[in-house]
Amino acid sequence: EKGGYEHFMIKEIYEQPKAIRETMTGRLAKDDSRVVFDELKWTKEDVANIKKIVITACGTAFHAGIVGKYYLEQLARIPVEVDIASEFRYRSPLTDEQTLAIVISQSGETSDTLAALKEAKRLGARTLAITNVVGSSIAREADQVIYTWAGPEIAVASTKAYTTQLISVLMLALYLADLKGTLPPERIQELIKGLRALPGQAHELLEDVEPVKTFAQQYGFNEDVFFIGRSLDYAVALEGSLKLKEISYIHAEAYAAGELKHGTLALIIEGVPVIALATQHDVYEKMLSNIKEVKARDAVVIGIAMKGDEEIKKYVDHTIFIPATDKYLAPILAVIPLQLLAYYAAVTRGADVDKPRNLAKSVTVE
Ligand code: M6R
Repeated sequence: EKGGYEHFMIKEIYEQPKAIRETMTGRLAKDDSRVVFDELKWTKEDVANIKKIVITACGTAFHAGIVGKYYLEQLARIPVEVDIASEFRYRSPLTDEQTLAIVISQSGETSDTLAALKEAKRLGARTLAITNVVGSSIAREADQVIYTWAGPEIAVASTKAYTTQLISVLMLALYLADLKGTLPPERIQELIKGLRALPGQAHELLEDVEPVKTFAQQYGFNEDVFFIGRSLDYAVALEGSLKLKEISYIHAEAYAAGELKHGTLALIIEGVPVIALATQHDVYEKMLSNIKEVKARDAVVIGIAMKGDEEIKKYVDHTIFIPATDKYLAPILAVIPLQLLAYYAAVTRGADVDKPRNLAKSVTVE
């Protein structure tokens, strides 16, 4: 059932090109002009009534929500709050009929997320679930559902669920942008073309995993690892750090790169691995300054950058390149080397990859 792979996690990492293709199937207009969501069928008026979006989720799905905030705010120009599900319901959220509450959950059974969904409904919000499991409790409770169609995810560490959640929220943002007229048609088309290229690019990335494997073996016995990035790269850093902690038990921290000098820089000493994501062009120069800050403390820096970026090599010790893509699509590719890093670090340390200690695949207790 693992299809020749040693663990479910690595099988699921390799299933990503197929999974992300399935997520998009039937949802992109043939001429690339817009996203089609037959399951939503919203009108311009429906969308004009959405004054605010709140996204609630847990763990990896929460990290997908953080990326979703960038997508929905920047492309559809709707204010978005992202909240951890177990926090949302106890903070008297300012949610009403003009709020769209989005919950994200792979399993559709996470108690905290289900409770947040019920709370949002009680407050009168319109609700939308992004989930992978058809007929799950969350799918049944929400007013509307977008299925991610990633196929069953067995490993406790979520991988293909995350990338398909990102695709789903991005498509939702483009769908809303079209109805609201917040993006020029050429920009929508450009992003849809970029989406279509992703399965092939993810496949390309998965063909050469040797460098990542070597870094995992080389640094897999360090006790602390830092992940830094700005903007969307910061959101991906959070997910990379969770993945590493969860299965390899290495202490990891994700930091918005500009925040390092407000405290964390004190922990960066000689030899500490720092994974620096630098895929976002609008903050690229700032990111290079942050890389210099950690290099000055003798950290070992592994840069994650887009193919064609020769500049980065001057500043880091090693580089992992992802295929060149749009800044909004970069997280979907950039997370893949981080998933692999976590996987090979866990294997190097002899950890139980698919069933990490103390964790369950689906958390049905609060
Ligand atoms: O099934 P869900 O997406 O609701 O699960 C949420 C989290 O429990 C889950 O993402 C968890 O953080 C993963 N083990 C992360 O890899």
